[in-house]
Amino acid sequence: MSILITGGAGYIGSHTCVELLESGYDIVVLDNYVNSCPEALERVKKITGKDFKYYECDIRDKEGLDKIFKENTVEAVIHFAGLKAVGESCQKPLEYYDNNIGGTISLLEVMRENGCKTIVFSSSATVYGEENKVPFVETMKTGTTTNPYGTTKLYIENILQDIYKADNEWRVVLLRYFNPVGAHESGLIGEAPSFPNNLMPYISQVAIGKRECVNVFGDCYDTPDGTGVRDYIHVVDLAKGHVKAIDYILKNKGVEIFNLGTGHGISVIELIKAFSKATGIDIPYKITEPRSGDVAYSYANAEKAYKVLGWKAERDVNQMCADAWRWQKNNPNGYKD
Ligand code: NAD
Ligand code: WQD
Repeated sequence: MSILITGGAGYIGSHTCVELLESGYDIVVLDNYVNSCPEALERVKKITGKDFKYYECDIRDKEGLDKIFKENTVEAVIHFAGLKAVGESCQKPLEYYDNNIGGTISLLEVMRENGCKTIVFSSSATVYGEENKVPFVETMKTGTTTNPYGTTKLYIENILQDIYKADNEWRVVLLRYFNPVGAHESGLIGEAPSFPNNLMPYISQVAIGKRECVNVFGDCYDTPDGTGVRDYIHVVDLAKGHVKAIDYILKNKGVEIFNLGTGHGISVIELIKAFSKATGIDIPYKITEPRSGDVAYSYANAEKAYKVLGWKAERDVNQMCADAWRWQKNNPNGYKD
């Protein structure tokens, strides 16, 4: 029996593969490598010393998916595959709806045809929208999304809730991630964006000398230092949350939603300073215009995951920065090195 990981060569997927293998699960991975490469999976093998099969496959290719289900005994799916760049989703909404929503529907159809009705889905804190107040709690009504990427997450959450209502043999976990950062402590796997849209990869690229300084998007928010506050979570903690979610959903039916965050927010300037402190590298920054669609605060109430799954984030911001830097320093060009 295996866990199928869609998008397993990506940033969070590859770290989750490591934690699943180290917890004794067998895995099968699929990815179309639109934003990743098979080298990440070879490194997962190197870290764990364990072997597994991986397939080049697009989640919109039902025949390809069916072949994977026929060749393996898939007990449950962890569904990471998707496009995730907020800005790009505003330029290419159809591509995002097709890939993320169309792809998820095709995956769910093939799962059902093959009698596999257990899924853990990568959702996002973005579904809380602008109306809710921090800390975000799973019971809050989901908000109004501000971009097509966020809308795909919200719709997929709704689709997964609806399929359970129609057929309560489904077992569904919706994991709402906050801001994943850092890398595996081996320095072998990490985040390798072609362009750094998010704060931590940008800071790392300034540290390595690829960019001059960090542009801080606004210091006029109603926060202690005026810059945006987020709940940064170490990707290894996040990956461990998936193992707990799989342990849980293999034993329980229904739909459950969990926030995966630390429960604490830190500001842009605090993160820049923490990175300098952890690495000894000065990170120049300048204040620029706020980025459209950003909110002042986003952080989790992380109590439910602790109560129900027995999971909580353990790695602090110092470790997040030190591990992000080790990965960047050892792999200045990502997996191309
Ligand atoms: P990533 O881009 O590194 O990983 C996504 C993987 O999916 C990539 O390997 C990509 O090649 C693959 N993929 C994309 N479309 C595919 C398709 N049609 N068929 C097969 N494979 C496909 O991103 P990540 O940061 O690891 O994110 C994983 C998931 O978590 C995504 O669904 C993302 O939306 C979600 N998420 C990420 C964050 C974050 O900040 N990183 C936050 C919340 C939610
Ligand atoms: C963090 C803070 C920026 C870059 C995004 C998605 C969200 C989720 C996680 C997938 C904010 C500031 C950033 C920079 C800056 N992804 N910033 N200079 O926006 O909280 O969340 O990633 O689901 O859906 O929206 O993350 O890292 O982009 O920004 O000042 O160069 O850093 O304004 O306050 P965000 P981020």
